[in-house]
Formats: sequence, structure tokens, C-alpha cells
Amino acid sequence: MLNNGDWEEKVTRFPDSIYNRCYTSSTIITDKLESVIGKGKIFNSFTLFDKYTVYSILKENGLEDFMLPTYPYTRELLLNLLHEKGTALIKPAKGSMGAGILRFTFQNNEYKVYKQTFYPLKIINNEDNFILYIEKLFKPENYLIQPFISFGLIDGHVFDMRMLVQKNKNGIWDVTADMSRVGYRNFFVTNLTYGVQRIHKVLEDTGFDKSILTKLREISLLTAKILEEKLCFLGEISVDFGIEPSGKLWIIEVNGKPEKTVLGRISKETLQKSFITPIEYAAYLAASS
Ligand SMILES: Nc1ncnc2c1ncn2[C@@H]1O[C@H](COP(=O)(O)OP(=O)(O)O)[C@@H](O)[C@H]1O
Ligand SMILES: [Mg+2]
Repeated sequence: MLNNGDWEEKVTRFPDSIYNRCYTSSTIITDKLESVIGKGKIFNSFTLFDKYTVYSILKENGLEDFMLPTYPYTRELLLNLLHEKGTALIKPAKGSMGAGILRFTFQNNEYKVYKQTFYPLKIINNEDNFILYIEKLFKPENYLIQPFISFGLIDGHVFDMRMLVQKNKNGIWDVTADMSRVGYRNFFVTNLTYGVQRIHKVLEDTGFDKSILTKLREISLLTAKILEEKLCFLGEISVDFGIEPSGKLWIIEVNGKPEKTVLGRISKETLQKSFITPIEYAAYLAASS
């Protein structure tokens, strides 16, 4: 227990509610705790989401239009997509902070491999050698394939749009912060973040309609409600979107343990709100029977 700035060792009773901050897909600990403090008192039941599970749930529950087609990795699927579209992307099924993502292109019988940036890591002119090379870079059974989307740019930098969706002190889902992460020049991932801005500002500067923000709110609130019903008991997620130059929106990823410190680059108030809201929800849960 923290007492006037000093940590003291004490034995206490169990808390009435718990904001789960373990980054794992396992529910061993939360199940155990639940068996003591009761059901519906621990959020999120787990935080490390499987991207394929999330994709399947959202696709089957009305959000198909926004879901990037996603397939478990097989050589055949990757080669088909690559030969058909000229480009494809693979990513780990579970969080990688952009590190495990590979992009491929196929043009004039040349396969190019890209990691995080648009500078090729390797150029290979033979299909067998290409497969041999890439399958040393990742564990196929843990990977997913998606089409590579050329998302909109701001000043030549790729950007995404993140909605932080949290339950508030009344137990109601709310969008408590939004931000756009702008990537470094020549990077196709936004995880290494060059700049952070409010979404309305980025939409304005890139000439997109500002009504898109309303749409993002609707979709992200719906995402939270669907996942809570079909995945696990939740109190906090973030939903990341990309937008094509045509205005087409895609959900890139849903995070069950959103990185919030970066919101400090928007404002101190936004940062504080993002950390306090789950505590207020925990207090609501503790008080409810
Ligand atoms: N299908 C895609 N097409 C283009 N860019 C993508 C695609 N999927 C992901 N990205 C980029 O890669 C980044 C990381 O991907 P993401 O799915 O969020 O995995 P993680 O954050 O767990 O590493 C995204 O923020 C986005 O910038
Ligand atoms: Mg991500």
C-alpha cells in the first residue's frame, strides 16, 4: 500500500473491483480472482487480443464493411494475393507494436520484402527462394495475411486514427479521446510515431469531410459493444482506423490494453481523463451489486 509516498507491506481484503493491467490472453489469474470477488467485477477479463478472433467476430456482427480481409498464413494464399494484387502484408496474430509486420511486393518477376519502411530489405527473383527467405523471418503458425492498403498521407506521412473507448463512471461506453498517429516519412507503420494530432485537425488538413469523425465514433462504440458481448467483459479498448484517399475506412486493429501515455502529446487533460475514466468505472463496479 502506498502511504504518503512510501510503500508499506500490508495484508488487505480483496478489492471490490479490478482494472486488469496484465498484458496476456490468459484468464487464469482473472478467473481465480473472479471466483473470490464475484463475476462482472474485473475488466478487461483479458487484454491481449487475437487479431483473427476480433476480425471474425466483428465481420460476423455487422462491421464487415470495415474489416480488412484477414487470413491465417499459408504460402499459397500469400502467393495468390501477391500475384493478383502485386502487394500484400503479414502480421503476427497477437500484438507486435509494428515490429513483426512485413510487406511484400511482386512486380516484373521480382519479390521485394519490406519491414516497417518503404525501403526494401531484400529483393529476390525466384518464388522458391522468396518463400525460403521470408519463412525464416517469422513463425507461419502465428501469422495472418492481409491486403496491403495504401492509406491516406499527411504531408507525405502515413497516418491512422485511434479512438479510445472506455466505460465511464456510470458504466456507459464513451469515446474519451481521439488521436491520429502520424508515422515517420517512408514508414508504412504508424507505431513509430512521428507526430500526434487530434483527428478533426488531420481530417481538415487532408481535405477529408469532418463528418468522418462522427462515423468513427459510431463504429468504435459499436465495436466495444460487440466485443463485450462476444469476446469478454470489457471496460476499455482502442480502435485504430485507416482511411484510403477515396475516403474508405478500415479498422486496422482493436487493442485491449491501449497505450495511453502518447495522449500526453495531445494535452494534459486528455491524458488525465484517459487514466482516470477506468478508475471511475472501477469505482462504479465496486459500488454496484
Ligand atoms: N493491411 C494493412 N495495410 C497497410 N498498413 C497496415 C495494414 N495493417 C497494419 N498496417 C500498419 O501497420 C501498423 C501495425 O499494425 P497493427 O495491425 O496495428 O499491429 P500491431 O500494432 O499489433 O503491431 C498499423 O498501425 C498500420 O500503420
Ligand atoms: Mg497497432
